[in-house]
Amino acid sequence: MTAPRMSVKAVLAAPTMGQRVVVHGWLRTRRTAKNLSFLVVNDGSAQESLQVVVDCHTQGHDQIEDFSTGVSLCVEGEIKASRGQQQIELLATAVTLIGAAPNYPLQKKGHTLEFLREQAHLRARTNTFGAVFRIKDSTARATHDFFQRAGFYCLHAPITTPSDCEGAGNLFAVTVPDTEASGSAPHFFGRPAYLAVSGQLYAEAAALALGKVYTFAPTFRAENSNTTRHLAEFWMIEPEVAFADLNDICTLAADFVQQVTAQVLRDNVAELEFLQKHYPALSLPALEKLSQTTCARITYTEAIALLAQAVSRGQRFDHAPTWGASLQTEHEKYLAGEVFSGAVIVTDYPKAIKPFYMRSNDDGKTVAAMDLLLPNIGELVGGSQREERLDLITARCAELHEDMSWYLDLRRFGTAPHAGWGLGFERLVQYLSGMQNIRDTVFAPRAAQLLYF
Ligand code: 4AD
Ligand code: MG
Repeated sequence: MTAPRMSVKAVLAAPTMGQRVVVHGWLRTRRTAKNLSFLVVNDGSAQESLQVVVDCHTQGHDQIEDFSTGVSLCVEGEIKASRGQQQIELLATAVTLIGAAPNYPLQKKGHTLEFLREQAHLRARTNTFGAVFRIKDSTARATHDFFQRAGFYCLHAPITTPSDCEGAGNLFAVTVPDTEASGSAPHFFGRPAYLAVSGQLYAEAAALALGKVYTFAPTFRAENSNTTRHLAEFWMIEPEVAFADLNDICTLAADFVQQVTAQVLRDNVAELEFLQKHYPALSLPALEKLSQTTCARITYTEAIALLAQAVSRGQRFDHAPTWGASLQTEHEKYLAGEVFSGAVIVTDYPKAIKPFYMRSNDDGKTVAAMDLLLPNIGELVGGSQREERLDLITARCAELHEDMSWYLDLRRFGTAPHAGWGLGFERLVQYLSGMQNIRDTVFAPRAAQLLYF
């Protein structure tokens, strides 16, 4: 009878001494001492690897010289207490080479992130990227857990849309190459279509029917900026809540960040410890703090005043902080990192720099907008209370070059105050993993001039 197959994670989590198991994985390193060979095998299921001991009785030991870094293999053996650094090891009764790996490019430890970006198809096999992608998985699960606990319904908004929700004009067009080139065929959809920059407008319609909804979906922006925080394709989490105001969704954002961080801290101890050791941008005390304290809240006007005070004390910015202009990343990082040493929510931005759907405040100059800022990252969340008054939203929609009658219907028929936000999922993973470059949080990153595989 053959032994049961187990993952490395399962073997290490609850080892039964003397149990016979079969493990599949990839060889990280091999070391030979006297008549013994020690194989470090990782199958991606956990941060830790399994140490396998091969002796002269192990079936297949005569082929051990073929076991080079990167090969895939199958090991059958017995779980034993280890005399080495690790708690347990597998004393192999049989080892089988499954796939050879001549000239494997990830030979040594400590390749630079730049080098690994050029090997993106293989980099998930390293400790660093294994950790990042397992943390990303936990963050996605924690996201669904949070909204499901809070009574939200998960909504699949469309990816193909006629709308430029944000009005920033950085859309990707959806076309059919041949018919477009011939110039004669009409648009496939009968009108111009784009990849969604946001699912918000659909989430609004859904919230005004289902009450509380959230999307968690790919979004696309033709950002021509080569920064460490922008991607052309990224995932956004967008809750939308009926009968809610700006204050309600600020609380929702603060709770979300707090609870998701707490869950990742609980579920990814080994990953976070590994990353903290190797990447100074990751601070577990900072994550603990984020998971325990609600974020500060200030208005945009107060933010500008704080930045102006900083300038008067000698702080230098590339862009002078002036009322009416967008907060630059340097301002956002300064506010979260230096002034608040943690997350901060900034509300009530000038109307002129925000999209058409945001609710006008009574001062006539600002809108009920909110951004949540984090140290090192800057903007993580952007949201607002939506303009629910028919006359005001009709006037704002008139500025757009689109038929928004369906959107106005939401205000015509049973309008209600409602509010929501969008959170850049990869930026959250950046913060939780300490990766300085957003491209290192994505399996196959897409950005301007970057479509590697
Ligand atoms: O602030 P944004 O543009 O907000 C919206 O799209 C709203 N419609 C959301 C809503 O209210 N439902 O984008 C939301 C978040 C940003 O705060 C940022 O974290 C992320 O999406 N984001 C990007 N992440 C990676 N690459 C990009 N190019 C991003 N652009 C925005
Ligand atoms: Mg924004």
